Amino acid sequence: MTVAVPAHAPSSLIARYRAVRAASMALAAPLTAEDCAVQSMPDTSPVKWHLAHTSWFFETAMLAQRKDYRVFDPAFAYLFNSYYESAGPRHPRPRRGLITRPGLDAVLAYRAHVDAAMEDFLAQADAAQGAQALLGLQHEEQHQELILTDIKHAFFCNPLLPAYRTEAQTPRTAVPLAWRAHPGGIVPVGHAGKDFAFDNESPRHQVLLRPFRIASRAVSNGEYADFIADGGYRRAEFWLSDGWARVQEEGWDSPLYWLRDDDGTSRVFTLGGLGIPDPHAPVSHVSFFEAAAYAAWAGKRLPTEFEWEAASADLAHGEVWEWTRSAYDPYPGYKPFAGLASEYNGKFMVGQMVLRGGSAATPPGHARPSYRNFFPPAARWQFSGIRLAEDV
Ligand SMILES: [Fe+2]
Repeated sequence: MTVAVPAHAPSSLIARYRAVRAASMALAAPLTAEDCAVQSMPDTSPVKWHLAHTSWFFETAMLAQRKDYRVFDPAFAYLFNSYYESAGPRHPRPRRGLITRPGLDAVLAYRAHVDAAMEDFLAQADAAQGAQALLGLQHEEQHQELILTDIKHAFFCNPLLPAYRTEAQTPRTAVPLAWRAHPGGIVPVGHAGKDFAFDNESPRHQVLLRPFRIASRAVSNGEYADFIADGGYRRAEFWLSDGWARVQEEGWDSPLYWLRDDDGTSRVFTLGGLGIPDPHAPVSHVSFFEAAAYAAWAGKRLPTEFEWEAASADLAHGEVWEWTRSAYDPYPGYKPFAGLASEYNGKFMVGQMVLRGGSAATPPGHARPSYRNFFPPAARWQFSGIRLAEDV
């Protein structure tokens, strides 16, 4: 595969490799082997699977090129291939939680085996191989966020509602919502420069925007609670048809992790366990359907991904991914990565919506203003929130 990134000196690449791989292990450190094996729904994966799959990616996309590489276990290709048709058949995604063997110890040995071979690979890597390794590291960082979102969902499904970690519950102060005006016009969007970007962020191209205003911050829990109190989940007039159907089918009446005590007190489940929703923190774990309904209730709309990108320098973001009103489509002239990575993004460009920004669970430095995250409109288990926009 070829990826348009600069060549890196092997020593800095090896340091980066070690840091990213260690960060995955640090995320798994608070968990037991039983925690790491569980899969709470078809959208999520066991932590053990994430740890193995990211290693499989390095093994399949990079190490397999080398004649002297010994595959750790030939059976792992079936177990830990996610969706790569070109890499052969694979275990069905909804049944990843049934793979109790290999155990966590075997998966950690697999990681160590891949790490040793990758150190050799990186020490001798040419520019193209260095670029492949960077993609593997970006891929692993994406799975680091999924480790957090997936274990959060698994723990939420446990009646004991365990805490993944200790989190400070410092009350937030109110941040007034301001509106940032943008004059519109023909603006450039997409990735620029020589640093790493995924194929879906290119080519950089021009789009035409009408004048608009965009909110300076994301919608807060307190503002979202007003929508609920005003019958937001019971009034079809705010909802897209598919969204309203979901509300009925799944009984939605609040964001995913909101609970109510017997005495009516609102609670929210976090990675730090059960807490009280902070009215001044961004609302999180809402679907695109809920984001669009909230915007309709508020008399506003969601920004397009291009409005978001054009205004991004003026926005406070980074706590929640922000749903946009843009379908996840290829940019004009889009070319997928070559080789195995040709299946990375392009084949998912139907039926999903773009989210921009980044969340508290996104590894530091991973996202950028041109970064395009994407999920189906009903997805709620990501740290996904709402930013409003309006026409001028
Ligand atoms: Fe993956």
